[in-house]
Amino acid sequence: MRVVMIGTGYVGLVSGACFADFGHRVTCVDKDASKIAALKRGEIPIFESGLEDLVANNQQQGRLDFCVDPAEALREADAVFIAVGTPSRRGDGHADLSYVYAAAREIAPLLASKAVIITKSTVPIGTGDEVERILREARPDCQIPVVSNPEFLREGAAIQDFKHPDRIVVGTDDPRARDVLSELYRPLYLNAAPILFTGRRTAELIKYAANSFLATKITFINEIADLCEKVGANVQEVARGIGLDNRIGTKFLHPGPGYGGSCFPKDALALIKTAQDYGSPLRIVETTVAVNDQRKRAMARKVVSAVGGSIRDKTIALLGLTFKPNTDDMREAPSIALVTALTDMGAHVRAYDPAGMNQAKLLLPDITYCDGPYSAATDAHALVIVTEWEQFRVLDLARLKGIMADPVIVDLKNVFQPEELTKAGFVHESIGRPRG
Ligand SMILES: NC(=O)c1ccc[n+]([C@@H]2O[C@H](COP(=O)([O-])OP(=O)(O)OC[C@H]3O[C@@H](n4cnc5c(N)ncnc54)[C@H](O)[C@@H]3O)[C@@H](O)[C@H]2O)c1
Repeated sequence: MRVVMIGTGYVGLVSGACFADFGHRVTCVDKDASKIAALKRGEIPIFESGLEDLVANNQQQGRLDFCVDPAEALREADAVFIAVGTPSRRGDGHADLSYVYAAAREIAPLLASKAVIITKSTVPIGTGDEVERILREARPDCQIPVVSNPEFLREGAAIQDFKHPDRIVVGTDDPRARDVLSELYRPLYLNAAPILFTGRRTAELIKYAANSFLATKITFINEIADLCEKVGANVQEVARGIGLDNRIGTKFLHPGPGYGGSCFPKDALALIKTAQDYGSPLRIVETTVAVNDQRKRAMARKVVSAVGGSIRDKTIALLGLTFKPNTDDMREAPSIALVTALTDMGAHVRAYDPAGMNQAKLLLPDITYCDGPYSAATDAHALVIVTEWEQFRVLDLARLKGIMADPVIVDLKNVFQPEELTKAGFVHESIGRPRG
């Protein structure tokens, strides 16, 4: 099939490359000319394991190309995906749909009548109706269907997730669109991935409900962790004790400094707005957002408590800045609020992240960036683990102790066992566990 991907960001690039790998002929389009030029040179603009090889192989096989102007590709396209950003709108936090609607207006006059439009961006309920209206206005001559096909891939495991999804959700009532989507995803459901056909509004809501549920689950265990600290219980054992119940499940029960990233914060907010607009407020999600917002900054108080008082003029080393490991994405990372709180309290922050420092420098220009964990820790009065990159799990504690000004570790991802930190001579704090 001939596929056009409008928007070559995280989702557009990964899905475009995977569809090409399934044997389809894919053109990835982006307005950002420098991104397209880099991709044509074989440079991948995001950090995602396996993506460089996947893109290179499919480019070489002639199944994947990149362009700024989609006109030519659109005339032949069977399937046109909209995968542009839907960030939070300034002011009210609802999803900003201007990129989605602009993309719909741009492609409408160029489509062949055989085409199907598929919204892969995360969009609020009713967006498909509006895209269809835009299309009908521009092309009263043809009945091009508009489908909702939300994407569930996770950054850091994006290719694996795309190729082995828990489910594929397709929102459409149109039989032709159903056939096109079935053909596009055929390699996956041959592989037994369930494909769930629903109405379009239902598909739009599934994506928001999934992300808001996961954000709530994380926030729940974060609050249980706080309670564990007060009552002398161990949150990791509580998480295991409840997670082994199949109705609950073990995933997303790892406490930390609060959820972040490009999806959960904005999607939870957008769902809250939709629910309010329809007079059916989601109080649980509203509370989740409020609790999570307070949590990120509150982590600075753990640092203050660990150093035994004021952090004014003290040096605090941060390991990990991205919102999770194996990505360079800094969008809504908890490290941003934490750094701001630490610097507000007068600390000097030194930081190291294996992949996210270029992005971090744009958001946090006033801290010192270091070329490794040990250089960040040198002369620090406390070391804070913010993101659980694999390489931090094997840090040499004796070496750290030797180079730090004070032996203090604040482990916001419970990377180390409290007993090993005590044994190595560190004062330490973690999340929801007895000191050990
Ligand atoms: N990042 C994730 O892990 C993830 C996972 C699932 C769903 N989503 C959703 O997918 C959508 C895209 O997210 P992303 O992280 O890939 O965004 P992104 O910001 O990385 O990429 C969006 C791209 O679209 C381009 N663009 C905007 N308007 C355009 C137009 N008219 N024509 C061509 N290109 C255009 C931008 O230049 C940008 O490169 C969002 O709705 C997001 O919520 C993201």
